[in-house]
Amino acid sequence: MRIILFGPPGVGKGTQAKILVDKFNIPQISTGDLLREAVSQGTEVGKQAKAVLEAGQLVSDKIMIEIIRVVLKSDKCKNGFILDGFPRTVPQAEALSLLLVQLHLGIDHVINMEVDEEEIIKRLGKRMMCKDCGKIYPIDNDHHRGDARCDSCSGELFQRDDDKPETIHKRLLVYSRSTFPVKKYYSGLGLLRTIKATGTVEHVNNEILKAINHK
Ligand code: AP5
Ligand code: MG
Repeated sequence: MRIILFGPPGVGKGTQAKILVDKFNIPQISTGDLLREAVSQGTEVGKQAKAVLEAGQLVSDKIMIEIIRVVLKSDKCKNGFILDGFPRTVPQAEALSLLLVQLHLGIDHVINMEVDEEEIIKRLGKRMMCKDCGKIYPIDNDHHRGDARCDSCSGELFQRDDDKPETIHKRLLVYSRSTFPVKKYYSGLGLLRTIKATGTVEHVNNEILKAINHK
C-alpha cells in the first residue's frame, strides 16, 4: 500500500496518517515532521530550513526531493508508505514519479482531503503535539485542558511555531499558489480520490477507507 495524503495545512493529514499506520502497518513519512526533527537536531538541512518553516514558506524542491529519495529507498518503506506533506509542488510530484519508476514502484491512491478555510484556522489554532511521540491533539480536548501531557507516552505537549495566526494565513496562501496545482497532476494520472475531511476523526477515517476500497 502506497498512499499520498494530500490537502491544505490543518486538514488532518497527520491525524489520519497515524491511524492508517496502525491499520496497514506501514510508516508515515511526514516531511514536516522530518524537517522539524532536523531543526531541533541542528543538522545542515535543519539550519537551512528553520527560517523557512517559521515563515510558513516551502523548503526548496531540491532539499525535499533528496530527503524523500533517501527515505523511500530505505528498508522501512519496503512494504509501503503513507506520504504526508509530500509532494507539495508540481516539480516534487514529477520527481516522485521518476523516483518510483526507478524503484519499480507505483502510488496506489492520492487522498485529496478537503475542508473550508474557517475550519482550518479553527483547527490549527487549537492544535498541540507531543514532543516525544508526535501524537496530535486539539487543545480544547477536556482531558488536556490544564495538564499538557500526552496520554500515550506522557510526553510534553507543545504548540508549533508556525501555528501563529499570521503564519497560518501565509501557509494557506502558499498552499493555494504552489500546492493546489499538484491536485491536477494526480487527477490527470487517475489517482486522485477526494473526500470531505469534516466530521469526527473516525468518520473521516471511514471516508478514506471507502475511497481506497478498504471498507
Ligand atoms: P507540515 O508539518 O506538513 O504542515 P502542513 O501541511 O501545514 O500540515 P499540518 O501538519 O499543519 O496539518 P495536518 O493536515 O497534518 O493536520 P493535523 O492532523 O495536524 O509542514 C510544515 C512546514 O514544513 C511547511 O509549512 C513547510 O515549510 C515545510 N514542508 C513540509 N513538507 C514540505 C515539502 N514537501 N516541500 C516544501 N516544504 C515542506 O490536524 C490539525 C488539527 O486539527 C489538530 O489539532 C487535530 O487534532 C485536528 N483535527 C484533525 N482531524 C479533525 C477532525 N476530523 N475534526 C476536528 N479536528 C480535527
Ligand atoms: Mg501534519
